[in-house]
Amino acid sequence: MPQLISPTTDLHGAWLDAHAEWGPGQHEDGFGLAPEDEVRSPAGFAAWVARLDGESDKTAYWWIVEDGRVLGGVALRHKETDYVRWAGHIGFGVCPSARRRGLASWALNLVLAEARARGVTQVLIVCATDNTASARTIERAGGVFEEVRDTEHGPVRRYRLCSREET
Ligand SMILES: CC(C)(COP(=O)(O)OP(=O)(O)OC[C@H]1O[C@@H](n2cnc3c(N)ncnc32)[C@H](O)[C@@H]1OP(=O)(O)O)[C@@H](O)C(=O)NCCC(=O)NCCS
Repeated sequence: MPQLISPTTDLHGAWLDAHAEWGPGQHEDGFGLAPEDEVRSPAGFAAWVARLDGESDKTAYWWIVEDGRVLGGVALRHKETDYVRWAGHIGFGVCPSARRRGLASWALNLVLAEARARGVTQVLIVCATDNTASARTIERAGGVFEEVRDTEHGPVRRYRLCSREET
C-alpha cells in the first residue's frame, strides 16, 4: 500500500535511489528540488529537507512511499502568489518505473483534500501541451480544461479542479 508522507531524512538512501532513476536533466516535478540543493551528503540532504519544512507556510510537500521506496513527490502551493497564478497550485511526479499504476491519480486525490483543508477551493494545475500523461492524470481527477497559455517555457494547458473533502 502506498503512503503519502512528509519529506524525511530517514529515507535518504531510498530517495537517492529514486533520484538516480530519474536521471540527469529530468525535472523531478513535485519534489521542490532546486539545482543548488546538495542532496548526496547526509548534511546536505538534511538541509534540503529542513528547507522544504521551512516553506510550509506557502508549500506543503509529500513523498509517495511504498515498501521503503520513494516512488514520487507532490507539492501543494497553497499560498496565492504570482508564481502560483502561473505555475499552478499542485505539481507532481512519479518515478519512471512506478508509472501507469495509478499512483499519481491516487496522490492527486489526497492532495486535493489537503488543498481544501488549507482553503484552496479552486485548484489550478498546468502542464505542457505535449505532456499527455500529466493532462490525462489531471483530467481523470476532474480537471476542467480552461485554455492554452504561452509561457517562457512553451505553451501550457491550464485546468481547474474543485478541491474536496477527504473521502
Ligand atoms: C504525469 C505522471 C505524474 C503520471 O503518473 P502515473 O502514476 O503514471 O499516472 P496514473 O497511473 O495515475 O495515470 C493517470 C492517467 O493518465 C494516463 N497516463 C499515464 N501515463 C500516460 C502516458 N504516458 N500516455 C498516456 N496516458 C497516460 C493513465 O492511463 C491514466 O488514465 P486512465 O485512468 O484513463 O487510463 C508521470 O508520468 C510523471 O511523473 N511524468 C513526469 C513528470 C510530470 O510530467 N509531472 C507533471 C507535471 S505537470
